[in-house]
Order: sequence, then structure tokens, then C-alpha cells
Amino acid sequence: MNCTTLILNIGESNYKDSISKAVHILKQGGTVAFPTETVYGLGADALNPVAVRKIFEAKGRPADNPLIVHIASIDTLDTIAEDIPPVAFELMGAFWPGPLTLVLRRKNTVPDITTGGLNTVAVRMPDNPVALALIREAGMPLAAPSANTSGRPSPTTAGHVMSDLSGRIDAVIDGGAVEVGVESTVLDVTSDVPVILRPGGVGVEDIRKHVGEVLIGYTDVEVGEGEVVRSPGMKYTHYSPDTRVILVEGESAVVRAKISELVESYSKKNMRAGLLITDETAEYVHADKMYSLGRRNEPEDAARNLFAGLRYLDGRNAGINVDVIIVDGSVKREGVGAAVLNRLRKAADELVEV
Ligand code: TXA
Ligand code: MG
Repeated sequence: MNCTTLILNIGESNYKDSISKAVHILKQGGTVAFPTETVYGLGADALNPVAVRKIFEAKGRPADNPLIVHIASIDTLDTIAEDIPPVAFELMGAFWPGPLTLVLRRKNTVPDITTGGLNTVAVRMPDNPVALALIREAGMPLAAPSANTSGRPSPTTAGHVMSDLSGRIDAVIDGGAVEVGVESTVLDVTSDVPVILRPGGVGVEDIRKHVGEVLIGYTDVEVGEGEVVRSPGMKYTHYSPDTRVILVEGESAVVRAKISELVESYSKKNMRAGLLITDETAEYVHADKMYSLGRRNEPEDAARNLFAGLRYLDGRNAGINVDVIIVDGSVKREGVGAAVLNRLRKAADELVEV
């Protein structure tokens, strides 16, 4: 599609008007990007296959990678899912609205294109007033993947959405920068023991407080072609800038030394390194272009800065021009930190474990 993408602002004076314009587009089977607490989503009527197809086309998303269906009220759940186990309701009570997606048995009202032909449907209730108002006013569940071009870092501002999808979607609602910064945790509750298919905004430690046992069903490395996976999204390249990304993981002092060494060796080759780096490491290492991940022991900071940092250093339009992005992987692997390190590993072309 080639169109002009409408930018809808959400201030006190134009809030209602923007939501009603967006609702109008959605009811006509169009696409609207909107803020959630995790990342921006690209929404369309989840029950309208023609509308959902536009999402896949705009993103260049493989057809077998299913979408998350967003709802604003638990009452609408039984229009899309069935045989919902008690553990799912327990988790909804604890985490909704919020960054937890539940994989449930689907009803046939949900078209195949939305679920990638699976007999399950992924559902979540986002914790963002604009998202909730949009779903409520539109009166339909919204299918919404992250509003980026497939394979690129996820968008955490409306500007990121426009830089990927301008001219390819009908509108974007600009609700400012998101709060969480990484996507929702995806939890499959269709089996006896729930399985985490993607780490995200809700930490596994918190999920464990509500369910007896949880299995980890994801890997931090990219899964090879032809391997059978439970969540189709695992197969594809993710979160990748165009620029080469080197991730350095390990104990903080060693990571610091390794990053210094890398910066120096690139500079000797007349190549420029950009750093995505914790505040602690930044006290010791310097490069022309740096972007802060925040404090090492505050994974929430890293989550909020991660995608914006990768996009900034990739600098397609910003004149950044670095030859390599070196990432400080000394972020604490706790809570949302597991999701941060998972995204970094997937974005990385090279992992250096020191
Ligand atoms: O925070 C989020 O979840 C954001 C915001 C916009 O809500 N959305 C998001 O969607 O990250 P997306 O499409 O980028 O990622 C959805 C993930 C994919 O890895 C997909 O394979 C998996 O969820 N998924 C969706 N439906 C599934 C299903 N029925 N079974 C297993 N995995 C599923
Ligand atoms: Mg995505």
C-alpha cells in the first residue's frame, strides 16, 4: 500500500477527535498504529481477514507468524477463546491489564490469518489508556503485532513507527514514549504445565508466584530453518539494526575491559564503534557515539532504552554513521532483564562471552 499516514495527536483538546478518527479507520478495515505500555502496536480488526492481511503486508511479516489479539475487557474473551483453564483467570487477575499474553484455545470466529492457522489464539489486555479507549470505542478486538518492519527493532515512539511504516499504514496515534520498552511475556496455558514462549515485561519470577510450575520454552539464540517451534515467531530474524551488532556478556569488570579493547581495535582499523552501554561501564569506556542503557542493576531502565538505542545508533537518517554497534550485556538478568538479554542476543550478529 502507498498512502499518506495520518498522525493523530493525543492532547487534552484533540484526544476524543483522534480516537474517533482512528476508530473510523478501524471500522473500515484499515490499520492504525497505537501506543501500548510495551511497544507500539499495529492494529486492525482481529476478526476481519481483509484488515488483518494489511498488517502482514505493511510489516512484510511471514504469514505463519500469528498475531496477538488485544482486548479491553475480560467479558470479550469468550468471543475469541474457549476451554480457558482456571490458571489463565488467576494470571489475568494478577497481570491484566499488563504485559502478559496468554495463548488459549481459539474459537473459529478468529480467522486463520490472525492465528497463522494455529488452533490457539494469543490474547492480552494492554495497560495503556489510549490503547484501551481505542479497543473499547472501536468495539472490536484488535490484532496488533509490534508496529515495525519485520526483523527491525520494535518501536517505542510514534517516530519509530513512522520511520518504518510511513506510507504503508493508515494512521498512527502518537501517545509519546512507551513505559516498558520490551514486548509482553507470551505464556502458553493450553498444556498441563504452562510454557513461556517469549520472555517479556512480566518476569518469570512473578509468574511463578501464581502458578506451580512453568517451563521455559524459548531460546535466546535464533532457531535454525526447519526446526519445529511452538511459537512461530521464534524462527525469524528479530530486532536487527542494519549495522553489525556485537554483544559482550559477562561479569561487569571483564565486560568493561573487553569493550575497551574492541573500541580500540576498531579505531586502529579506522572504523567507528557506537556503544549501547550501562552507566557504570560508561564511566570507563568512551566512543564518539554512545547511548545509555541506564543503570546495570535496573533492568527496567535497560528495557526502556534498548530499542531506542539500537535505532539511534543504527542512524539510518540521523547521520550517526558507525561501522559497528557494541552492546554492554552486563545488565542484570532478573525480571524484565531476561527479556532485555533475549532481545539483545537476537539482535546480535556476534556474541562475545567473557
Ligand atoms: O507487547 C506486545 O506483545 C506487543 C504489543 C503491540 O502488544 N506485540 C507484539 O506482537 O510483540 P508481535 O506480533 O511482535 O509478537 C507476537 C509473538 C510472536 O512471537 C508470535 O509468534 C507469538 O507472539 N504468538 C502469537 N500468537 C501465538 C500463538 N497462537 N501461539 C504461539 N505463539 C503465538
Ligand atoms: Mg514483533
